[in-house]
Parts: sequence; structure tokens; C-alpha cells
Amino acid sequence: MKYTLAFDVYGTLINTSGVFNSLEKMIGKQAKPFMDTWRNKQLEYSFRRGLMNKFVDFSVCTKDALKFSCKLFKVNLSNAQKEALMDEYKVLPAFADVKKGLQTLKNEGHNIYAFSNGSVNAVSNLLVNAELMHLFDGVVCVEDVQVFKPSPLVYEHFNKKTASLKETSWLISSNSFDVIGAASYGMKTAWLQRSSEAIFDPWDIEPTTIINAINELSIKLK
Ligand code: 2OP
Repeated sequence: MKYTLAFDVYGTLINTSGVFNSLEKMIGKQAKPFMDTWRNKQLEYSFRRGLMNKFVDFSVCTKDALKFSCKLFKVNLSNAQKEALMDEYKVLPAFADVKKGLQTLKNEGHNIYAFSNGSVNAVSNLLVNAELMHLFDGVVCVEDVQVFKPSPLVYEHFNKKTASLKETSWLISSNSFDVIGAASYGMKTAWLQRSSEAIFDPWDIEPTTIINAINELSIKLK
């Protein structure tokens, strides 16, 4: 069976902790809690904007969340330092399992897409920089529907854009909000548990399967 696979980007294919080293040089031991706050606030802002019908480029949520984190941790980053961090966010590294894992799935004939809150431009830059772009049949982003994950509109848009059916599509993400959103819409889902500490939200919606690396997906699709 050949499936259409929607890979979440930030935190799934691409490691958002990629800015940790630069951040640590700037603010020392606060870097880890700062970075966690930055990521969580970035997502919170996307959820709020979706509910408010106030869509913006995802990078605005990222920038605003960075500014919030500076206030919360009472860290005075210069504009140059903030710009440097935002520039790094554009070229974050891929996780080590991604290239080989996607190549295997491509060889097995599945249709492979990057699917993200990020803009086509931002996601394409990340994938080109990580030397992954050639593995994808396309990049699908939410800007066309002007709302963020986990709105059902974004998953519906993915199926429309890729001429696929929800019943033969998989959403693969390390972000449980994304997995729950896609499962609630009707796609099959794989939660990619990137850390043993990661907790899947205790709702009544479970992923179709749980994997710890992309190369574990292949067997689940057979
Ligand atoms: C995405 O890439 C934010 O990880 C989420 O859409």
C-alpha cells in the first residue's frame, strides 16, 4: 500500500534546539529554560492567532515569543543578537535519523511531503540547507488557508493540495498537538517520540502508532 506522508517540520524533521549553543554563549545556564519557553510561547501564539483569525507568518510568532522570553528571563539581548538567533532559526539542523529514514520511505514508493506552520519559503530554506529537499514530493504550508495547526482546515488543505485522501494519509509529528489535530480530522498518525521525557497529551485521542525514529515507520506502513 502506498501512502501520502505528511511530515511535520519544526521539532520533527528539524531540531529547534539547534540555536542552543548560540543562546548559551549569550545567556549562559538560562539557555535551556529560555529555549523551552521560546518554543512553547511560539506555539501558544500560533494557537491564539488561529482562534483570533489574526494569521501572520509563523516567523512573527517566533520573533514575538523570543521577545516574550527575554522579558520573562530579564535578559537584555541586543537587536543584533535577536536577529542572529532568528537567522539561525532559518537554518536549523535536521535530526540524524531523517535523511536515511525518508530515503527508505521514498524508495518504497510513498508520497512524501513536508507539512508545516512555517511558510513555504522558510521551510524550503530549512530543507535545502539540511540537504533534504530532494527527498520530498512537495512542501505544503498553512499560509494558503490563513490558520495554524491543529485546525482541521490545515489537514483538509494538505489532502486537497496533495490530491490525497485522509484515509490513506499519515501525519508524522513529534508534537502531540499536531498528532491529535490530524487524528481528530481523520488522518492516520505516527507520534515521533523524540525524547523519553516527551509526554503525549492525555486526551481520548491516541496516535495510530508511536515511533522513536523515522526508520521505524516503514514497517508500520506494511
Ligand atoms: C510545524 O512545523 C510548528 O512543528 C510545527 O508546523
